[in-house]
Amino acid sequence: MNVSEALATRKTCRAFKDTPVSEALLREILTTALRAPSGGNLQPWRVYAVTGAVQQAIVDEVQEKMKTTPRGEGAEYHIYPPELTEPYKTRRFQVGEGMYAALGIPREDKAARLTWFARNYAFFGAPAALFFTMDRQMQEGQWSDCGMFMQSIMLLAREHGLHTAAQEAWAVWTPTVVKALNIPDNEMLFCGVAIGYEDESHPIASFRSERVPVDEIVSFHGF
Ligand SMILES: Cc1cc2nc3c(=O)[nH]c(=O)nc-3n(C[C@H](O)[C@H](O)[C@H](O)COP(=O)(O)O)c2cc1C
Repeated sequence: MNVSEALATRKTCRAFKDTPVSEALLREILTTALRAPSGGNLQPWRVYAVTGAVQQAIVDEVQEKMKTTPRGEGAEYHIYPPELTEPYKTRRFQVGEGMYAALGIPREDKAARLTWFARNYAFFGAPAALFFTMDRQMQEGQWSDCGMFMQSIMLLAREHGLHTAAQEAWAVWTPTVVKALNIPDNEMLFCGVAIGYEDESHPIASFRSERVPVDEIVSFHGF
């Protein structure tokens, strides 16, 4: 698989099979992804890889807590800008509507939408996941570095027949994840990434998000 194919086939996978992902395979992907660039070569990221009983304990705890605290414990950063304006608002709305259309869940069925959203907290069925943290001293530039590292992992996953789902949704359960994984105080939880093999028989598997045309976001100068 070449880079273009990895990019074209990477998507947020929201239905995984329970086929395990070995530590050896994750190590290989992570080792290769560590070639990702970072400003000043700070390599500002930390990764906590989970599977099996450790992963299940986090899922169970969050599922239990959601009964009384459905919105979570609170993220330490703004997942989205507090006042999202156009054109971003519409893009966000459209991807949500597209996803729920693929699932056959209408707008009025808030309960079904919430139930689907809560699958985030079961890693969409993935048998393994990565949590990304960064030292609190890091700034905007280092968040971008972490994103490049994550994308490198997600593309390499494709090369190995795996799919991924980046999940900022986990940020709202920061205290639970921090405690479960003994994450030190100086680190801030950024994001989870579910990883595994896609359940191609699930209705969500056919969903692909849209992109704006290149001329809407690029201006070419001096060509
Ligand atoms: C940093 C990051 C965090 C994300 N968090 C979530 C999440 O918590 N739950 C979810 O369903 N999708 C999440 N997504 C997926 C985006 O919604 C998705 O990337 C976007 O709609 C484009 O679709 P695609 O990834 O399938 O191409 C996240 C993506 C990124 C890059």
